[in-house]
Amino acid sequence: MKAENNCIVIFGASGDLTHRKLIPALYNLYKIGRLSENFSVLGVARTELSNEEFREKMRSALIEHEKADGDELNNFCSHLYYQAVNTSDAADYVKLIPRLDELHDKYKTCGNTLYYLSTPPSLYGVIPECLAAHGLNTEEFGWKRIIVEKPFGYDMKTAKELDVQIHRFFDEHQIYRIDHYLGKETVQNLLVLRFSNGLFEPLWNRNYIDYIEITGAEELGVEQRGGYYDGSGAMRDMFQNHLLQVLAMVAMEPPAIINADSMRDEVAKVLYCLHPLEPNDLQHNLVLGQYAATQLNDERVKGYLEEKGVPPDSNTETYMALRCKIDNWRWAGVPFYVRTGKRLAARVTEVVIHFKKTPHPVFSQEAPENKLILRIQPDEGISMRFGLKKPGAGFEAKEVSMDFRYSDLNGASLLTAYERLLLDAMKGDATLFARTDAVHACWKFVQPILDYKANGGRVYEYEAGSWGPVEADKLIAQHGRVWRKPSGQMKKKV
Ligand code: BG6
Repeated sequence: MKAENNCIVIFGASGDLTHRKLIPALYNLYKIGRLSENFSVLGVARTELSNEEFREKMRSALIEHEKADGDELNNFCSHLYYQAVNTSDAADYVKLIPRLDELHDKYKTCGNTLYYLSTPPSLYGVIPECLAAHGLNTEEFGWKRIIVEKPFGYDMKTAKELDVQIHRFFDEHQIYRIDHYLGKETVQNLLVLRFSNGLFEPLWNRNYIDYIEITGAEELGVEQRGGYYDGSGAMRDMFQNHLLQVLAMVAMEPPAIINADSMRDEVAKVLYCLHPLEPNDLQHNLVLGQYAATQLNDERVKGYLEEKGVPPDSNTETYMALRCKIDNWRWAGVPFYVRTGKRLAARVTEVVIHFKKTPHPVFSQEAPENKLILRIQPDEGISMRFGLKKPGAGFEAKEVSMDFRYSDLNGASLLTAYERLLLDAMKGDATLFARTDAVHACWKFVQPILDYKANGGRVYEYEAGSWGPVEADKLIAQHGRVWRKPSGQMKKKV
């Protein structure tokens, strides 16, 4: 289904996200015919640029990131427009009125407008107010929707304040909080795997599952984003949003139907069931880490404290691991081990469901564990691991696997996360966008950890290229378990 005719207004049009993700996503949707011919993009930022200059910049970005060329590229760029606005000055927004009138007329959009806030978070509360000062938020003529990038607040208090600010001018049904993990095909597939097969769901509970591991590991460090990252850390940057959303997909109850309300009701419900970490958990079931310099292959890899924009005495965590519990009927007693970090041994995001062992050992040697590995990226796929008889005498079991790879699905043209989410927002489908109650539930769980950290909670060093601090191994070893070390490990120089 195509998006309705509409005008997309991107605030922060001169920023990195616009030319690296948003414009390429719109270009690809255009190429595959998912945008109507009557779309237009109005870039907004402080810098003075003409339409032509803006088009030139976006054209170069598309050539660089998408290898775009030819008529398609020219036609797409002819839909791009630009208006310079001082985004913190309400009076200056008056400039948007004739520009939008012209675009709505030219592209017969009936007034449908999608605002995308790709700006520093300090403007998330300001822009809605400035738009409202000129009536640009009202749905009298066409729909008005607003997409907000993470972070949705900095902690529980600021998240609530931000909500109040935006809700003064936009209703919840107009607000689309984007979490690009929910746009990933394989995260959505968690739902399809669970709720469209009779095979898995009966086993998906405390009776059969021993524990669950969720890993979001990155090989890269903070790159050019040291300044931003230092005020954020792994807890806010990855855990509070992306990984808790993945956890919700793994743990939620089946919605009665897939639509924005019933899906997001279930997501919020399960996130509110997360058992808050208590003082004892903060000591024993939480590990924070920061990468230190190391020699990998022939290269010296910088430590976090040497990264551009990072204060030399920073205590920000680039790694976190924790054990948490969900207080409900399905998950009582099943631990969830979640970890994420930068400069780890491999780039891999996956969920591992570890099933309970057989109740009685029939064979002399211990049977391999049964596990289901849901690989979110890279090498998207699913692997089921179980024990079978090793050929030959006796009854020795060995682990075998049944594997499915997304890349084996012929003809699958997967939309990237931003393509999928932008298209959904233009279609008015908020199913894959975070609702305010779920965001609050995440902050509610994370807040005691932030407080613990602010009050001197220890941050352990780990070597860049490793699997994190040894303390994280101890965390899981307390309960007789080990973290999976997925393949793709960088080779260490010996
Ligand atoms: C972003 C974080 O939201 O997600 C980055 O700010 C992180 O620090 C990125 O690298 C990870 O996304 P992906 O899609 O590469 O796993």
